[in-house]
Amino acid sequence: MSKILITGGAGFIGYFVAEKLSQNPENQITVLDNLSRGCNDKEFETLCAKSNVTFVQGDLTSQATIDDISRDYEYIYHLAALVGVKNVKDAPDRVLSVNIRSTLNLFEAARSFYRLRKIFFSSTSEVYAGTFMHFAVGVPTSESVPLAVSDITSARSTYAISKMCGESICFSYGEKYQIPFVIGRYHNVYGPRMGWAHVIPEMYAKITNNAELTVTSPGHSRAFCYIDDAVEFTVRLTEHYQTEGEIFHIGNPTEEIRIKDLVKLIARVMNRQVFVETGRDMPGSPHRRCPDTAKAERRTGYRANIALEEGVKKTYQWYQSRLDSYEEGR
Ligand SMILES: NC(=O)c1ccc[n+]([C@@H]2O[C@H](COP(=O)([O-])OP(=O)(O)OC[C@H]3O[C@@H](n4cnc5c(N)ncnc54)[C@H](O)[C@@H]3O)[C@@H](O)[C@H]2O)c1
Repeated sequence: MSKILITGGAGFIGYFVAEKLSQNPENQITVLDNLSRGCNDKEFETLCAKSNVTFVQGDLTSQATIDDISRDYEYIYHLAALVGVKNVKDAPDRVLSVNIRSTLNLFEAARSFYRLRKIFFSSTSEVYAGTFMHFAVGVPTSESVPLAVSDITSARSTYAISKMCGESICFSYGEKYQIPFVIGRYHNVYGPRMGWAHVIPEMYAKITNNAELTVTSPGHSRAFCYIDDAVEFTVRLTEHYQTEGEIFHIGNPTEEIRIKDLVKLIARVMNRQVFVETGRDMPGSPHRRCPDTAKAERRTGYRANIALEEGVKKTYQWYQSRLDSYEEGR
């Protein structure tokens, strides 16, 4: 039997990791979340009703929550964080304090976890934003390129900085206290439950309400990864016996697409006509971003295989009945 802690398990990726792991009755899973973004909806209730899943509402920045975490977990998936442009704009101080403190608290606690096999730390492609701005790096980009901060004075940098600090905590605590960890840098994961503050769900709402759309950064290209593929990589990298102390990209590089073409694809899936007007380029947003995932593929024997159109369709099936709840930025 494996005892597993999933932080941020009421959110997007955490929920699906919990859902997958809960299918094995040998796994005993605790989901820890403060519900600041994640929600206690019907799907989450169903997950928590399983006999091998327990939900703990707690805040990883609070010492009381940390003290209550039992010391006998074997695997920890650390997915809790404050994410999204709105948080970065409105509360960059909280992005730094929540993301750094929660990781620091977890690793401090992990010093006394006596059965620990691996902590998975969720990092992001955003750590490359400064690198892309100032250095010529190849695309698809490998994990080995150096990281850079483009503008330390900008609130926009806080999310990437908080994740760089998280990675540094992994390496410094890992080495000093022999805490086994693996870092996954997610690249544009999408799917049901991801909230509204991402291009794909936002487009479902905007295309429903408008025949004409002004698209920001229309010529920029990204590679999107469906949640099932991201979860498969996450679990395989965490359970693999030879991933300790390493960084891996998690993504799907096979269908890099320009944002304006993505909008057209979404409209097609929704069976709608939309006229796309060219908006301004978002300052600081890299022109291209696409991960080299060869390292994760070699190690896990897995390759992302859900086509973009199929993933966009599945995601739309989930969002279609929830369009009334659209809230910009949430
Ligand atoms: N979705 C992506 O494409 C993507 C890309 C790069 C990195 N990531 C990283 O993956 C992880 C999961 O992302 P997501 O998209 O599922 O985000 P999410 O917002 O859906 O999930 C994060 C969860 O953490 C919880 N949380 C926040 N602060 C907490 C705290 N102090 N204590 C306990 N719980 C707390 C929230 O309530 C939420 O349920 C994050 O670390 C994020 O930075 C995601």
